[in-house]
Amino acid sequence: MRLQGKNIIVTGGASGIGLSSVERCLEEGASVIIADIEDGDGASRAAALDGKHAGRCLFKAADVTDTDQVDHLFEHAVAELGSVDAVFNNAGIGGICPSDEVSDEAYLRVIDVNLNGVFRVARAALRVMYPQGSGSIVNCASILGVFGQSQTAAYTAAKGGVVNLTRTLAIEAAPKGVRVNAIGPGYIDTPLLEALDDDMLQGLISLHPLGRLGRPEEIANAFLFLASDEASFITGANLMVDGGFTAGKS
Ligand code: NAI
Repeated sequence: MRLQGKNIIVTGGASGIGLSSVERCLEEGASVIIADIEDGDGASRAAALDGKHAGRCLFKAADVTDTDQVDHLFEHAVAELGSVDAVFNNAGIGGICPSDEVSDEAYLRVIDVNLNGVFRVARAALRVMYPQGSGSIVNCASILGVFGQSQTAAYTAAKGGVVNLTRTLAIEAAPKGVRVNAIGPGYIDTPLLEALDDDMLQGLISLHPLGRLGRPEEIANAFLFLASDEASFITGANLMVDGGFTAGKS
């Protein structure tokens, strides 16, 4: 078991990539807190997984745009589990709109969840991990953290921010024994893509040299690796898990 005895928080753990990551961590022996918004599926999913995995899965409502809720999530985790060994900073939302039409509200919402939320969670994690002298923070970026895409100004700005925030946090945290990395998924078959029609999906698939969308568990496996001691000399990296999307065109 690659994560035996580790205590892990997954934000956005109620759906898609986050849920798959929760399941893989439980299979590898970790105790896991699903941190997600109050009115989603987090509580019921955690209850089902808790039953299947001998009481090792909890739910804690935490909106990553709310600093108090994020800080309370980590206090709760330490109280319940005793430590936080790894965090998947995965909660995120999409947002498609021409840049000349997007409202302040829509633009700032994406930045607040996808970039500021990542910082709030990472800061709370560092405050727990520094005294421990160990920990692994993994931030979910995207191919759109290193590539532009039309009509996704806020999303691409946020994900690009996550990539460089990861580097800065990694440098700062390294002397304290804490590693910080990012994952850059290609397009992954999750509810986040539900808004896209078939033609759009086919167009996106054609941009991946491997010729398909990714599966949530393929990102979960990358998280699992970066969270584990197998990645003990990796920090500040942005691991692309994208079916070759960023390698170039054939
Ligand atoms: P999803 O929509 O299936 O899951 C996102 C989860 O985040 C949901 O459970 C949702 O309730 C939660 N969430 C949303 N706002 C939140 C908030 N303010 N506080 C706490 N939780 C919140 O999406 P998916 O695809 O699993 O996305 C996960 C991450 O992967 C996101 O950061 C996304 O940007 C990133 N990503 C996804 C790609 C894809 O093609 N699906 C591609 C590249 C990156």
